[in-house]
Parts: sequence; structure tokens; C-alpha cells
Amino acid sequence: MHMRKFVLAALAVLSLGAAASAQSYPSRPITIIVPFAAGGPSDAMARILAERMKTVLGEAVLVENVTGAGGSVGVGRAVRSPPDGYTISFGHLGTHVANGAVYKLGYDLVTDLEPVALLPSNPMIIVSKNAVPAKTLTEFVSWLKAQPSPPTAGTAGAGSGSHIAGLYFEKITGAKLQYVPYRGTGPAMNDLVAGQIDLIVDQTSNSIQQVRAGNIRAYAITDSKRVDSAADIPTVDEVGLPGFHMTLWSGMWVPKDTPKDIVARLNAATNDALNDPAVRKQLENLGLQMPPRDKLTPDALGAQQKAEIAKWWPMIKAANVKVD
Ligand code: MLT
Repeated sequence: MHMRKFVLAALAVLSLGAAASAQSYPSRPITIIVPFAAGGPSDAMARILAERMKTVLGEAVLVENVTGAGGSVGVGRAVRSPPDGYTISFGHLGTHVANGAVYKLGYDLVTDLEPVALLPSNPMIIVSKNAVPAKTLTEFVSWLKAQPSPPTAGTAGAGSGSHIAGLYFEKITGAKLQYVPYRGTGPAMNDLVAGQIDLIVDQTSNSIQQVRAGNIRAYAITDSKRVDSAADIPTVDEVGLPGFHMTLWSGMWVPKDTPKDIVARLNAATNDALNDPAVRKQLENLGLQMPPRDKLTPDALGAQQKAEIAKWWPMIKAANVKVD
């Protein structure tokens, strides 16, 4: 066969294959890789969504916790998976933005992944163990500064959401913290409740139930307005730290070269899950906010990720983070 004809024929076969794979997709279980420990906020959101996506897609949607190095171990696993829509990378501002400024990653966060869908976001919340003698945020910051050695702040590892929030908190208050890395803020929360560490600048969705139960103390949430499902907790603006605003958004990605119609299928299934009243109720009860209507496309997540890289990398690089 003439070379040009051969190439065209080969291309036609390849595109037919891709079309066929998208039409029959999914035909086996899909795995969402959550890069943090079970029982934490990423795990909780992924499991709530997976339950509904399973019904929409007609196949099992499993959650696998692949932890370590601020979530970069799990993201790396997803990046190296076949681009066939059967492996999804779940992550957030930490894993898919901050990690790139902290680690020498073996992958590029933007070019090695295809964005699928923006997921709910939540502000951070400043919480301490109950034994800390402060009652207000101002008292808490004074207490932090008065300690002979830096108080211990639990994080989900260098470059995670809780770590970046801690760095930002140090910068804005002048307090010094000693970070204690965990494989997720689920296990960090267990140690906070037990009084083994002093504080976490945590995702509201992870802390809210322990605050409600009186097991830890909340000082403020990092937003300009209160969270509906925790309306008694003041904002940072109300209690002396105006402008310490940070919203942690999550998202889902697939390996680059995943066929566009499979990406579209997953995007539709995710948005369907987010629209389900029972799912919404569960997420909103955790203090999570739905993505705005104009940000439901894969491109909107891509744009958000790039804008956040431009915003956060300079601060994180200036903090000269040591990788544990
Ligand atoms: C987790 O699920 O453990 C969190 O998303 C970790 C974090 O980034 O703070």
C-alpha cells in the first residue's frame, strides 16, 4: 500500500477504535484514586459522588486511597494509568496546584492530565484541641505566639490543602508552627481530638462534625460569609483576621489522551451526581458549596487550575517548603 494511504487507513482504524470504546464505555468498574487517607474530606466527597455516579454510569465506581507525599503518590499513579476513562484522579488545590510548587513531580499537572469536572469547595476552618486555653481567634493567635516552641499543626503532608493553609496562616499572623504530616487530615483529626497535636487549619468539611460534637474548638472560617450548616462559627473578617480568605476546591481529572467523549461522559455523570438532591444534602451538611453554574465544564476546571497555579505558586515557593 502507498505510504500515505496506509497512514490514512491506520488513522481511520484508530479513530473507529476510539469511537467504539467511547460508545461501549463504561463496560467495567471505574476507579477514583483519592490521594489521601480514608475517613478524610477528599475520601468523604469522592465516596458520596461515587455512589451516585455508579447509578448514572451503570458500572461500579470504586474509591482507592493511594496516599503519601502530599497526595502526589496517588496523582502520579493516575497519571501513569491507561487513558481509557477507567482511572480518575481526584484532587484539589493542594494536589493539583500546590504540589507542583513543592515537589519535583515526575509529571506535569496541566499537560499530563485532562480536566473532567470542578467539584464542590469549602473554606478552611481554624481548629484546635480543646485543651488550648483560648476562646477567641485573637486569644488563640496570642497563645500560639507565647509558646516556648512552635505549636504542632497537623497536615496531610507537604503541599496538601491543610499545609498550604497553615503556611498562609503563619504568614498573615506571624505565628510559627511545627507541621506534623499525616496521610490525610482524617488521621490528623483523630490525633487532634485525642490532644496529640495542637491545631489544624483544616477543610471545614473535615472538622465540622467534630466541632458540632464539642470534640475540638473552632475559631473562624476563612471566608467573608459564614457557612450555612455551621452558622454559629464566625468568619475571619468578624474576629480580627480580615482577608485571610481561602477556599479549597476539588476536582476530577483523567490521564491525558483520554478520548474527549469519555471525558464528556464523566463530566455529565459528575454534574448529574452534584444535582441529585440527596447528594447535595449530604455535601451541604458538610459545609461544601456547589460549583457555580458557569463552571461545570472540563475547560472551566482547566482554567481554574491554571489561575490558581499563578496565584499560589509564588507564595509557596517563597515559603521555601522542606519536603519531609
Ligand atoms: C484529605 O482528604 O486528607 C485532605 O484533602 C487533605 C488536605 O489536603 O488537607
